[in-house]
Amino acid sequence: MNVGSLKIIKDIAVFLFALCNLACDVNGLVINVKNRGGDILQETIAANVTSDTITLEYQKTEGTLITQFVDFASEIQVFKVLVLGEEERGESQFQVMCFVLRFMKNEFIATDAMSKLRQKNPGTIRNAEEDKGTEQHDLDLCVDVGQASVISPHLPVLCHDAKETTFARETDLKALAKPGGPKDAKVMLKAAHKCGVGVQERCKDTTDWWQPCTCQYQLCISWYPCGLKYCRGKDSSQKVVSYRCGIKTCKKCRLMSYYSKQKINCLWDE
Ligand SMILES: *[C@@H]1O[C@H](CO)[C@@H](O)[C@H](O)[C@H]1NC(C)=O
Repeated sequence: MNVGSLKIIKDIAVFLFALCNLACDVNGLVINVKNRGGDILQETIAANVTSDTITLEYQKTEGTLITQFVDFASEIQVFKVLVLGEEERGESQFQVMCFVLRFMKNEFIATDAMSKLRQKNPGTIRNAEEDKGTEQHDLDLCVDVGQASVISPHLPVLCHDAKETTFARETDLKALAKPGGPKDAKVMLKAAHKCGVGVQERCKDTTDWWQPCTCQYQLCISWYPCGLKYCRGKDSSQKVVSYRCGIKTCKKCRLMSYYSKQKINCLWDE
């Protein structure tokens, strides 16, 4: 498919987003999005074609910084949450958690399409076309961040501040394992251990700030490019071809359940 030979400029004009063809100068998109609570958030999404990764980031109104990091080569996505502490409640300055999940192809557009994405009217407030609802994840493993490069080479840097609070799922690591090589299940699972075994109580159900409990954190990505749209046109020899000419957009929430050593590290869950 030779997109370059197509007269697609007219066609892409009907889309809010276009995939640039020639020089894609600036890297990264800034998108204004309205979340479920009605707040306007500013998301930045940047692709790195060299490392085949995408970073989506936004700050919630109360200050929490949410990062979604997709590592296509490792088939891993990481949700990093940086919560600012409330001094008067005796919390430390900030808390960082990393949630490592398996990434399925087609959950997000590819890095090369992402790096070419440009929006018309950048100030516009966007609404996602499709609501993918809320997925619940029980993260049963605590990841040893120092050894986590076997899961994704980016993890040790990305989750450097979440040494005690990086979580994953055994089912994901087993599904990603490849027998015999550097990603053998034995090697992968050495970078993580079961944690919170036997802890039944939800943090919201205990009043003891020092008690271990199961914490829940909900995080939402209110807008992301979840697929490509295709248009049909004719190439220079009048053959009908289809080519990518825009994006499909989605929103999705995830409810993370994970082990908290103390309720004091989970004060939002009440
Ligand atoms: C993209 O990834 C490469 C390889 O990891 C890295 O060297 C480079 O600095 C990254 N580029 C940006 C803009 O972050």
